[in-house]
Amino acid sequence: MYAILDQVPVMFWAAGPDHRKTWLNKAYLAFTGKTLGQLVSSGWADCIEREDLDICYRTYLDAFSMREIYETEYRLKRHDGTFRWVKEWGCPQFTNGEFTGYLGSCIDIHETYLHQSILKNNQELLQKSYEDSPIGMLKLDLQGRIQLANRSFCRMLGYSSAEIIGKTPQDFTHPDDLTRYDDGRQTLEKDSVLEDEKRYLKKDGSIVYALLRVTMIRDWLGTPVAWFSQVVDITSKVKLEKEMDRQRLLATNATKMAALGEMAAGMAHEINNPLTIIMGKAQQIEKSLLSGSFDKNDLLEHCGKIQQTVNRIATIIRGLRAFARDDRQDPLTMATVYDVVRETLVLCHEKFRNAGVEFENVAISPLVRVECRPAQISQVLLNLLNNAFDAIQNMPRKWIRLEAFEDNEAVVFRVSDSGHGIDGSLVEKIFNPFFTTKPAGKGTGLGLSISRGLAESQGGEIRLVSTSSPTTFEFRLPHQRSAQAEVIA
Ligand SMILES: Nc1ncnc2c1ncn2[C@@H]1O[C@H](COP(=O)(O)OP(=O)(O)OP(=O)(O)O)[C@@H](O)[C@H]1O
Ligand SMILES: [Mg+2]
Repeated sequence: MYAILDQVPVMFWAAGPDHRKTWLNKAYLAFTGKTLGQLVSSGWADCIEREDLDICYRTYLDAFSMREIYETEYRLKRHDGTFRWVKEWGCPQFTNGEFTGYLGSCIDIHETYLHQSILKNNQELLQKSYEDSPIGMLKLDLQGRIQLANRSFCRMLGYSSAEIIGKTPQDFTHPDDLTRYDDGRQTLEKDSVLEDEKRYLKKDGSIVYALLRVTMIRDWLGTPVAWFSQVVDITSKVKLEKEMDRQRLLATNATKMAALGEMAAGMAHEINNPLTIIMGKAQQIEKSLLSGSFDKNDLLEHCGKIQQTVNRIATIIRGLRAFARDDRQDPLTMATVYDVVRETLVLCHEKFRNAGVEFENVAISPLVRVECRPAQISQVLLNLLNNAFDAIQNMPRKWIRLEAFEDNEAVVFRVSDSGHGIDGSLVEKIFNPFFTTKPAGKGTGLGLSISRGLAESQGGEIRLVSTSSPTTFEFRLPHQRSAQAEVIA
Protein backbone atom coordinates (compact mmCIF):
# COMPACT_ATOMS: atom_id res chain seq x y z
CA MET A 1 0.00 0.00 0.00
CA TYR A 2 2.86 2.38 0.81
CA ALA A 3 4.04 1.91 -2.79
CA ILE A 4 0.72 3.31 -4.06
CA LEU A 5 0.70 6.13 -1.53
CA ASP A 6 4.17 7.09 -2.72
CA GLN A 7 2.76 7.85 -6.15
CA VAL A 8 -0.08 10.22 -5.12
CA PRO A 9 0.50 14.00 -4.86
CA VAL A 10 -0.91 14.11 -1.30
CA MET A 11 1.36 13.90 1.75
CA PHE A 12 1.02 10.65 3.71
CA TRP A 13 2.75 9.31 6.76
CA ALA A 14 2.65 6.31 9.05
CA ALA A 15 3.49 6.05 12.75
CA GLY A 16 4.05 3.05 15.01
CA PRO A 17 2.11 2.37 18.26
CA ASP A 18 4.73 4.45 20.11
CA HIS A 19 3.58 7.42 17.95
CA ARG A 20 7.00 7.77 16.29
CA LYS A 21 6.83 8.31 12.53
CA THR A 22 7.98 5.27 10.65
CA TRP A 23 7.35 6.32 7.07
CA LEU A 24 6.55 9.49 5.03
CA ASN A 25 5.68 9.37 1.36
CA LYS A 26 7.52 11.05 -1.49
CA ALA A 27 5.08 13.95 -1.63
CA TYR A 28 5.87 14.68 2.07
CA LEU A 29 9.63 14.54 1.41
CA ALA A 30 9.27 16.75 -1.67
CA PHE A 31 7.18 19.30 0.24
CA THR A 32 9.58 19.58 3.17
CA GLY A 33 12.78 19.06 1.12
CA LYS A 34 13.98 16.54 3.76
CA THR A 35 15.09 12.97 3.51
CA LEU A 36 13.19 10.12 5.07
CA GLY A 37 16.03 9.71 7.57
CA GLN A 38 15.63 13.33 8.71
CA LEU A 39 11.86 13.07 9.23
CA VAL A 40 11.24 9.64 10.76
CA SER A 41 10.97 9.13 14.48
CA SER A 42 10.51 12.71 15.82
CA GLY A 43 12.44 14.55 13.10
CA TRP A 44 9.22 15.75 11.41
CA ALA A 45 8.52 18.00 14.43
CA ASP A 46 11.45 20.24 13.35
CA CYS A 47 9.36 21.26 10.33
CA ILE A 48 6.43 22.53 12.41
CA GLU A 49 6.08 26.22 13.30
CA ARG A 50 7.11 26.58 16.95
CA GLU A 51 3.90 28.39 17.92
CA ASP A 52 1.79 25.52 16.59
CA LEU A 53 3.93 22.72 17.99
CA ASP A 54 2.28 22.51 21.37
CA ILE A 55 -1.31 22.21 20.13
CA CYS A 56 -0.21 19.94 17.31
CA TYR A 57 1.52 17.52 19.68
CA ARG A 58 -1.35 17.58 22.14
CA THR A 59 -3.93 16.73 19.47
CA TYR A 60 -1.65 14.02 18.09
CA LEU A 61 -0.88 12.38 21.45
CA ASP A 62 -4.44 12.69 22.81
CA ALA A 63 -5.78 10.98 19.70
CA PHE A 64 -3.13 8.29 20.04
CA SER A 65 -4.06 7.52 23.61
CA MET A 66 -7.79 7.40 22.73
CA ARG A 67 -7.12 5.63 19.40
CA GLU A 68 -9.34 8.17 17.72
CA ILE A 69 -9.45 9.77 14.31
CA TYR A 70 -8.27 13.38 14.55
CA GLU A 71 -7.87 16.40 12.34
CA THR A 72 -5.81 19.47 12.97
CA GLU A 73 -4.30 22.51 11.25
CA TYR A 74 -0.78 23.87 11.67
CA ARG A 75 2.04 25.51 9.77
CA LEU A 76 4.57 23.19 8.13
CA LYS A 77 7.93 24.39 6.79
CA ARG A 78 8.22 23.97 3.05
CA HIS A 79 11.50 23.18 1.25
CA ASP A 80 11.93 26.93 0.46
CA GLY A 81 11.85 27.83 4.17
CA THR A 82 8.34 29.33 4.17
CA PHE A 83 5.68 28.03 6.53
CA ARG A 84 2.42 26.88 4.93
CA TRP A 85 -0.85 26.10 6.63
CA VAL A 86 -1.67 22.40 6.24
CA LYS A 87 -4.61 20.31 7.31
CA GLU A 88 -3.82 16.90 8.73
CA TRP A 89 -5.99 13.86 9.37
CA GLY A 90 -4.82 10.83 11.33
CA CYS A 91 -6.53 7.47 11.55
CA PRO A 92 -5.65 4.62 13.99
CA GLN A 93 -4.69 1.29 12.34
CA PHE A 94 -5.55 -2.14 13.68
CA THR A 95 -4.46 -5.60 12.54
CA ASN A 96 -6.56 -8.45 13.88
CA GLY A 97 -7.93 -6.05 16.45
CA GLU A 98 -4.50 -5.03 17.65
CA PHE A 99 -3.49 -1.36 17.47
CA THR A 100 -0.57 -0.98 15.10
CA GLY A 101 -0.15 2.79 14.89
CA TYR A 102 -1.55 5.63 12.76
CA LEU A 103 -1.82 6.42 9.07
CA GLY A 104 -2.17 10.10 8.29
CA SER A 105 -2.38 12.57 5.40
CA CYS A 106 -1.75 16.28 4.97
CA ILE A 107 -2.80 18.80 2.36
CA ASP A 108 -1.57 22.34 1.77
CA ILE A 109 -4.54 24.64 2.58
CA HIS A 110 -2.48 27.81 2.84
CA GLU A 111 -4.39 29.90 0.24
CA THR A 112 -7.79 28.71 1.43
CA TYR A 113 -6.77 29.37 5.04
CA LEU A 114 -5.68 32.92 4.20
CA HIS A 115 -8.89 33.60 2.27
CA GLN A 116 -10.96 32.23 5.09
CA SER A 117 -9.19 34.32 7.69
CA ILE A 118 -9.60 37.46 5.52
CA LEU A 119 -13.26 36.56 5.10
CA LYS A 120 -13.61 36.00 8.85
CA ASN A 121 -11.90 39.33 9.60
CA ASN A 122 -14.17 41.09 7.11
CA GLN A 123 -17.22 39.48 8.61
CA GLU A 124 -16.16 40.53 12.09
CA LEU A 125 -15.51 44.05 10.82
CA LEU A 126 -18.90 44.15 9.13
CA GLN A 127 -20.62 42.84 12.23
CA LYS A 128 -18.82 45.40 14.37
CA SER A 129 -19.59 48.31 12.07
CA TYR A 130 -23.22 47.12 11.85
CA GLU A 131 -23.55 46.99 15.62
CA ASP A 132 -21.49 50.06 16.51
CA SER A 133 -22.57 52.28 13.62
CA PRO A 134 -24.15 55.59 14.61
CA ILE A 135 -26.56 54.94 11.72
CA GLY A 136 -29.62 52.82 12.42
CA MET A 137 -29.69 49.68 10.26
CA LEU A 138 -32.51 47.26 9.56
CA LYS A 139 -32.93 44.15 7.51
CA LEU A 140 -36.53 43.49 6.47
CA ASP A 141 -38.09 40.49 4.80
CA LEU A 142 -40.07 41.05 1.63
CA GLN A 143 -43.27 41.46 3.65
CA GLY A 144 -41.59 44.40 5.39
CA ARG A 145 -41.09 42.65 8.75
CA ILE A 146 -37.93 43.58 10.62
CA GLN A 147 -35.52 40.65 10.85
CA LEU A 148 -32.50 42.51 12.21
CA ALA A 149 -32.15 45.88 13.92
CA ASN A 150 -28.83 47.24 15.14
CA ARG A 151 -28.19 48.95 18.49
CA SER A 152 -28.33 52.42 16.99
CA PHE A 153 -31.84 51.90 15.59
CA CYS A 154 -33.08 50.45 18.90
CA ARG A 155 -31.56 53.37 20.80
CA MET A 156 -33.08 55.86 18.33
CA LEU A 157 -36.60 54.61 19.07
CA GLY A 158 -36.06 53.64 22.71
CA TYR A 159 -37.16 50.02 22.20
CA SER A 160 -35.22 46.80 22.84
CA SER A 161 -34.32 44.68 19.83
CA ALA A 162 -36.85 42.04 21.02
CA GLU A 163 -39.61 44.68 20.88
CA ILE A 164 -38.65 45.61 17.32
CA ILE A 165 -37.93 42.26 15.63
CA GLY A 166 -40.99 40.90 13.81
CA LYS A 167 -42.71 44.32 13.64
CA THR A 168 -42.74 46.55 10.56
CA PRO A 169 -41.22 50.06 10.39
CA GLN A 170 -44.80 51.29 9.92
CA ASP A 171 -45.57 50.18 13.49
CA PHE A 172 -43.17 52.95 14.64
CA THR A 173 -44.01 55.57 12.00
CA HIS A 174 -45.77 58.83 12.82
CA PRO A 175 -49.43 58.42 11.70
CA ASP A 176 -49.21 61.47 9.41
CA ASP A 177 -46.34 59.90 7.46
CA LEU A 178 -47.99 56.52 6.94
CA THR A 179 -49.78 57.59 3.78
CA ARG A 180 -46.45 57.93 1.97
CA TYR A 181 -45.66 54.29 2.63
CA ASP A 182 -47.44 52.88 -0.44
CA ASP A 183 -45.74 55.40 -2.77
CA GLY A 184 -42.39 54.45 -1.22
CA ARG A 185 -43.01 50.75 -1.78
CA GLN A 186 -43.80 51.33 -5.43
CA THR A 187 -40.63 53.39 -5.91
CA LEU A 188 -38.60 50.64 -4.23
CA GLU A 189 -40.02 47.93 -6.41
CA LYS A 190 -39.27 50.01 -9.50
CA ASP A 191 -35.85 51.50 -8.69
CA SER A 192 -34.59 49.21 -5.89
CA VAL A 193 -33.55 52.31 -3.91
CA LEU A 194 -35.62 54.77 -1.91
CA GLU A 195 -34.45 57.91 -0.15
CA ASP A 196 -36.92 59.70 2.05
CA GLU A 197 -37.43 61.71 5.20
CA LYS A 198 -40.03 60.68 7.71
CA ARG A 199 -40.99 60.80 11.35
CA TYR A 200 -40.92 57.92 13.79
CA LEU A 201 -42.59 57.85 17.18
CA LYS A 202 -40.32 56.86 20.06
CA LYS A 203 -41.46 54.56 22.86
CA ASP A 204 -41.87 57.66 25.09
CA GLY A 205 -44.12 59.26 22.44
CA SER A 206 -41.62 61.87 21.25
CA ILE A 207 -40.89 62.37 17.55
CA VAL A 208 -37.72 61.31 15.75
CA TYR A 209 -37.05 62.96 12.37
CA ALA A 210 -35.19 60.47 10.18
CA LEU A 211 -33.46 60.34 6.84
CA LEU A 212 -33.80 56.91 5.21
CA ARG A 213 -32.13 55.02 2.44
CA VAL A 214 -33.73 51.69 1.67
CA THR A 215 -32.20 49.29 -0.84
CA MET A 216 -33.38 45.98 -2.19
CA ILE A 217 -31.10 42.99 -1.68
CA ARG A 218 -31.17 40.42 -4.49
CA ASP A 219 -29.70 36.95 -4.80
CA TRP A 220 -27.26 36.11 -7.57
CA LEU A 221 -30.15 35.42 -9.94
CA GLY A 222 -31.49 38.93 -9.32
CA THR A 223 -34.49 37.76 -7.29
CA PRO A 224 -35.36 40.14 -4.41
CA VAL A 225 -34.68 38.49 -1.08
CA ALA A 226 -34.78 41.29 1.50
CA TRP A 227 -34.71 45.04 2.14
CA PHE A 228 -31.84 46.85 3.82
CA SER A 229 -32.64 50.15 5.45
CA GLN A 230 -30.26 52.80 6.84
CA VAL A 231 -31.78 55.40 9.14
CA VAL A 232 -30.09 58.63 10.24
CA ASP A 233 -31.53 60.58 13.15
CA ILE A 234 -31.80 64.21 11.99
CA THR A 235 -34.01 65.41 14.85
CA SER A 236 -31.50 67.94 16.18
CA LYS A 237 -30.84 69.30 12.68
CA VAL A 238 -34.59 69.69 12.00
CA LYS A 239 -35.09 71.36 15.38
CA LEU A 240 -32.19 73.70 14.69
CA GLU A 241 -33.66 74.63 11.31
CA LYS A 242 -37.05 75.26 12.89
CA GLU A 243 -35.45 77.42 15.53
CA MET A 244 -33.52 79.31 12.84
CA ASP A 245 -36.75 79.88 10.91
CA ARG A 246 -38.33 81.17 14.10
CA GLN A 247 -35.37 83.45 14.77
CA ARG A 248 -35.44 84.64 11.15
CA LEU A 249 -39.13 85.46 11.52
CA LEU A 250 -38.47 87.27 14.78
CA ALA A 251 -35.61 89.18 13.14
CA THR A 252 -37.79 90.08 10.16
CA ASN A 253 -40.46 91.39 12.46
CA ALA A 254 -37.89 93.16 14.62
CA THR A 255 -36.42 95.04 11.65
CA LYS A 256 -39.91 95.87 10.50
CA MET A 257 -40.80 97.21 13.93
CA ALA A 258 -37.51 99.11 14.11
CA ALA A 259 -38.32 100.71 10.75
CA LEU A 260 -41.80 101.56 12.03
CA GLY A 261 -40.30 103.09 15.16
CA GLU A 262 -37.95 105.19 13.08
CA MET A 263 -40.89 106.35 11.03
CA ALA A 264 -42.96 107.26 14.06
CA ALA A 265 -41.35 110.69 14.50
CA GLY A 266 -41.91 111.60 10.85
CA MET A 267 -45.37 110.14 11.06
CA ALA A 268 -46.37 112.55 13.82
CA HIS A 269 -45.66 115.43 11.44
CA GLU A 270 -47.24 113.61 8.58
CA ILE A 271 -50.51 113.31 10.48
CA ASN A 272 -50.28 116.57 12.43
CA ASN A 273 -50.07 118.69 9.29
CA PRO A 274 -53.32 117.42 7.78
CA LEU A 275 -55.00 117.63 11.19
CA THR A 276 -53.99 121.30 11.38
CA ILE A 277 -55.46 121.81 7.91
CA ILE A 278 -58.71 120.12 8.93
CA MET A 279 -58.90 122.17 12.11
CA GLY A 280 -58.23 125.39 10.15
CA LYS A 281 -60.87 124.61 7.55
CA ALA A 282 -63.45 123.65 10.22
CA GLN A 283 -62.78 126.94 12.05
CA GLN A 284 -63.20 128.89 8.79
CA ILE A 285 -66.53 127.16 8.11
CA GLU A 286 -67.65 127.84 11.72
CA LYS A 287 -66.65 131.47 11.46
CA SER A 288 -68.51 131.95 8.19
CA LEU A 289 -71.63 130.24 9.51
CA LEU A 290 -71.58 132.34 12.72
CA SER A 291 -71.12 135.58 10.78
CA GLY A 292 -74.23 134.72 8.74
CA SER A 293 -72.60 135.93 5.54
CA PHE A 294 -70.92 133.19 3.63
CA ASP A 295 -70.30 132.14 0.11
CA LYS A 296 -71.65 128.67 -0.61
CA ASN A 297 -68.80 127.91 -3.02
CA ASP A 298 -66.21 128.87 -0.37
CA LEU A 299 -67.82 126.50 2.11
CA LEU A 300 -67.92 123.70 -0.47
CA GLU A 301 -64.27 124.33 -1.23
CA HIS A 302 -63.40 124.06 2.50
CA CYS A 303 -65.39 120.82 2.76
CA GLY A 304 -63.59 119.44 -0.30
CA LYS A 305 -60.22 120.26 1.27
CA ILE A 306 -61.27 118.56 4.53
CA GLN A 307 -62.28 115.41 2.64
CA GLN A 308 -59.07 115.43 0.63
CA THR A 309 -57.00 115.79 3.81
CA VAL A 310 -58.91 113.02 5.59
CA ASN A 311 -58.15 110.81 2.59
CA ARG A 312 -54.49 111.63 2.95
CA ILE A 313 -54.51 110.56 6.61
CA ALA A 314 -56.40 107.41 5.65
CA THR A 315 -53.69 106.62 3.09
CA ILE A 316 -50.99 107.00 5.73
CA ILE A 317 -52.83 104.73 8.15
CA ARG A 318 -53.50 102.19 5.42
CA GLY A 319 -49.80 102.22 4.52
CA LEU A 320 -48.79 101.71 8.13
CA ARG A 321 -51.28 98.90 8.65
CA ALA A 322 -50.19 97.16 5.47
CA PHE A 323 -46.56 97.50 6.45
CA ALA A 324 -47.05 96.17 9.95
CA ARG A 325 -49.17 93.11 9.18
CA ASP A 326 -47.71 89.65 8.62
CA ASP A 327 -48.45 88.84 4.98
CA ARG A 328 -46.05 85.97 4.40
CA GLN A 329 -48.91 83.51 3.85
CA ASP A 330 -50.91 85.89 1.65
CA PRO A 331 -51.42 84.88 -1.97
CA LEU A 332 -49.81 87.11 -4.60
CA THR A 333 -52.19 89.81 -5.80
CA MET A 334 -52.20 92.16 -8.80
CA ALA A 335 -51.13 95.56 -7.48
CA THR A 336 -50.63 98.92 -9.12
CA VAL A 337 -46.94 99.73 -8.82
CA TYR A 338 -47.66 103.47 -8.62
CA ASP A 339 -49.88 102.96 -5.55
CA VAL A 340 -47.35 100.70 -3.84
CA VAL A 341 -44.62 103.33 -4.31
CA ARG A 342 -46.91 106.13 -3.13
CA GLU A 343 -47.93 104.24 -0.01
CA THR A 344 -44.28 103.50 0.74
CA LEU A 345 -43.21 107.09 0.37
CA VAL A 346 -45.91 108.23 2.78
CA LEU A 347 -43.94 106.33 5.40
CA CYS A 348 -40.61 108.10 4.88
CA HIS A 349 -41.29 111.33 3.04
CA GLU A 350 -41.53 113.42 6.17
CA LYS A 351 -38.31 112.01 7.59
CA PHE A 352 -36.49 112.97 4.37
CA ARG A 353 -37.99 116.45 4.36
CA ASN A 354 -37.03 117.12 7.99
CA ALA A 355 -33.44 116.07 7.30
CA GLY A 356 -33.17 118.35 4.29
CA VAL A 357 -32.85 115.53 1.77
CA GLU A 358 -33.53 116.34 -1.87
CA PHE A 359 -35.79 113.48 -2.77
CA GLU A 360 -36.72 112.68 -6.34
CA ASN A 361 -39.29 110.14 -7.32
CA VAL A 362 -39.29 109.21 -11.00
CA ALA A 363 -42.77 107.75 -10.98
CA ILE A 364 -44.05 104.91 -13.09
CA SER A 365 -47.23 105.05 -15.13
CA PRO A 366 -50.34 104.41 -12.95
CA LEU A 367 -51.32 101.70 -15.43
CA VAL A 368 -48.47 99.33 -14.65
CA ARG A 369 -49.53 96.42 -12.50
CA VAL A 370 -47.57 93.47 -11.18
CA GLU A 371 -48.37 90.32 -9.24
CA CYS A 372 -46.80 90.60 -5.78
CA ARG A 373 -47.37 90.97 -2.05
CA PRO A 374 -47.60 94.78 -1.90
CA ALA A 375 -46.54 95.17 1.75
CA GLN A 376 -43.41 93.13 1.07
CA ILE A 377 -42.54 95.40 -1.86
CA SER A 378 -42.96 98.35 0.49
CA GLN A 379 -40.71 96.71 3.04
CA VAL A 380 -37.95 96.13 0.47
CA LEU A 381 -38.18 99.69 -0.86
CA LEU A 382 -38.15 101.13 2.65
CA ASN A 383 -35.05 99.10 3.51
CA LEU A 384 -33.27 100.44 0.44
CA LEU A 385 -34.45 104.02 1.07
CA ASN A 386 -33.40 103.88 4.74
CA ASN A 387 -29.96 102.59 3.76
CA ALA A 388 -29.65 105.46 1.28
CA PHE A 389 -30.75 107.90 3.97
CA ASP A 390 -28.10 106.59 6.41
CA ALA A 391 -25.40 106.79 3.74
CA ILE A 392 -25.93 110.48 2.99
CA GLN A 393 -26.00 111.72 6.58
CA ASN A 394 -22.60 113.40 6.57
CA MET A 395 -22.51 114.38 2.92
CA PRO A 396 -22.48 118.05 1.91
CA ARG A 397 -25.16 117.38 -0.68
CA LYS A 398 -27.86 114.95 0.27
CA TRP A 399 -30.08 113.46 -2.38
CA ILE A 400 -31.96 110.23 -2.90
CA ARG A 401 -33.69 109.12 -6.09
CA LEU A 402 -36.29 106.40 -6.46
CA GLU A 403 -37.03 105.37 -10.02
CA ALA A 404 -39.70 102.87 -10.97
CA PHE A 405 -40.03 101.73 -14.58
CA GLU A 406 -40.62 98.61 -16.56
CA ASP A 407 -38.58 96.83 -19.20
CA ASN A 408 -39.48 93.76 -21.25
CA GLU A 409 -39.10 91.29 -18.44
CA ALA A 410 -39.68 93.10 -15.19
CA VAL A 411 -40.84 96.02 -13.15
CA VAL A 412 -37.64 97.69 -11.95
CA PHE A 413 -37.11 99.84 -8.87
CA ARG A 414 -33.83 101.72 -8.57
CA VAL A 415 -32.72 103.50 -5.42
CA SER A 416 -29.71 105.81 -5.81
CA ASP A 417 -28.04 108.15 -3.35
CA SER A 418 -25.28 110.72 -3.12
CA GLY A 419 -23.75 108.91 -0.13
CA HIS A 420 -20.25 107.70 0.70
CA GLY A 421 -20.60 104.59 -1.48
CA ILE A 422 -19.64 101.00 -0.70
CA ASP A 423 -16.03 99.87 -0.48
CA GLY A 424 -15.17 97.12 -3.03
CA SER A 425 -14.05 94.78 -0.23
CA LEU A 426 -17.56 94.89 1.31
CA VAL A 427 -19.58 94.23 -1.82
CA GLU A 428 -19.61 90.44 -1.24
CA LYS A 429 -20.68 90.86 2.37
CA ILE A 430 -23.45 93.44 2.47
CA PHE A 431 -26.21 90.87 1.75
CA ASN A 432 -25.00 88.58 4.53
CA PRO A 433 -27.26 88.49 7.58
CA PHE A 434 -25.94 90.59 10.45
CA PHE A 435 -23.33 92.37 8.34
CA THR A 436 -23.40 96.04 9.20
CA THR A 437 -20.96 98.94 9.20
CA LYS A 438 -23.29 101.01 11.32
CA PRO A 439 -22.60 101.73 14.99
CA ALA A 440 -23.96 99.31 17.60
CA GLY A 441 -27.63 99.96 18.22
CA LYS A 442 -28.09 101.66 14.85
CA GLY A 443 -28.13 98.78 12.36
CA THR A 444 -28.90 95.09 12.79
CA GLY A 445 -27.34 94.20 9.44
CA LEU A 446 -30.49 92.31 8.47
CA GLY A 447 -32.09 94.84 6.11
CA LEU A 448 -30.54 93.66 2.85
CA SER A 449 -30.61 89.93 3.63
CA ILE A 450 -34.29 90.11 4.55
CA SER A 451 -35.04 92.26 1.52
CA ARG A 452 -33.29 89.75 -0.73
CA GLY A 453 -35.35 86.94 0.85
CA LEU A 454 -38.59 88.87 0.30
CA ALA A 455 -37.64 89.72 -3.29
CA GLU A 456 -36.75 86.11 -4.10
CA SER A 457 -39.93 84.76 -2.52
CA GLN A 458 -41.76 86.74 -5.20
CA GLY A 459 -39.45 85.61 -8.00
CA GLY A 460 -37.50 88.87 -7.95
CA GLU A 461 -33.93 89.87 -7.19
CA ILE A 462 -31.95 92.68 -5.60
CA ARG A 463 -28.50 93.70 -6.85
CA LEU A 464 -26.03 96.42 -6.11
CA VAL A 465 -25.51 97.95 -9.56
CA SER A 466 -23.20 100.84 -8.66
CA THR A 467 -20.94 101.12 -5.63
CA SER A 468 -20.66 104.95 -5.70
CA SER A 469 -21.48 108.28 -7.37
CA PRO A 470 -24.30 107.45 -7.10
CA THR A 471 -24.62 104.27 -5.03
CA THR A 472 -27.43 102.33 -6.73
CA PHE A 473 -29.43 99.26 -5.79
CA GLU A 474 -31.83 97.66 -8.24
CA PHE A 475 -34.86 95.57 -7.30
CA ARG A 476 -36.43 93.66 -10.19
CA LEU A 477 -39.82 91.99 -10.07
CA PRO A 478 -40.41 89.89 -13.21
CA HIS A 479 -43.73 89.85 -15.04
CA GLN A 480 -43.32 86.08 -15.55
CA ARG A 481 -42.29 84.21 -12.45
CA SER A 482 -40.22 81.03 -12.75
CA ALA A 483 -41.85 77.79 -11.57
CA GLN A 484 -39.22 77.61 -8.83
CA ALA A 485 -40.16 81.03 -7.49
CA GLU A 486 -43.81 79.93 -7.32
CA VAL A 487 -42.74 76.98 -5.23
CA ILE A 488 -40.63 79.11 -2.88
CA ALA A 489 -43.52 81.48 -2.51
N1 LIG B 1 -26.88 102.88 0.03
C1 LIG B 1 -25.84 102.43 0.73
N2 LIG B 1 -24.68 103.13 0.79
C2 LIG B 1 -23.62 102.69 1.49
N3 LIG B 1 -23.59 101.53 2.15
C3 LIG B 1 -24.69 100.78 2.13
C4 LIG B 1 -25.87 101.18 1.42
N4 LIG B 1 -26.79 100.20 1.57
C5 LIG B 1 -26.23 99.26 2.35
N5 LIG B 1 -24.99 99.60 2.69
C6 LIG B 1 -24.04 98.81 3.50
O1 LIG B 1 -24.55 97.49 3.64
C7 LIG B 1 -24.62 97.18 5.03
C8 LIG B 1 -25.74 96.21 5.26
O2 LIG B 1 -26.97 96.84 5.02
P1 LIG B 1 -28.27 96.25 5.69
O3 LIG B 1 -29.42 97.03 5.23
O4 LIG B 1 -28.31 94.78 5.46
O5 LIG B 1 -28.00 96.43 7.23
P2 LIG B 1 -27.92 97.81 8.05
O6 LIG B 1 -28.51 98.90 7.24
O7 LIG B 1 -26.51 97.97 8.49
O8 LIG B 1 -28.80 97.46 9.29
P3 LIG B 1 -30.42 97.43 9.30
O9 LIG B 1 -30.88 97.48 7.89
O10 LIG B 1 -30.75 96.14 9.94
O11 LIG B 1 -30.81 98.60 10.09
C9 LIG B 1 -24.75 98.49 5.73
O12 LIG B 1 -24.32 98.45 7.07
C10 LIG B 1 -23.86 99.39 4.87
O13 LIG B 1 -22.50 99.19 5.21
MG1 LIG C 1 -30.46 98.64 6.31
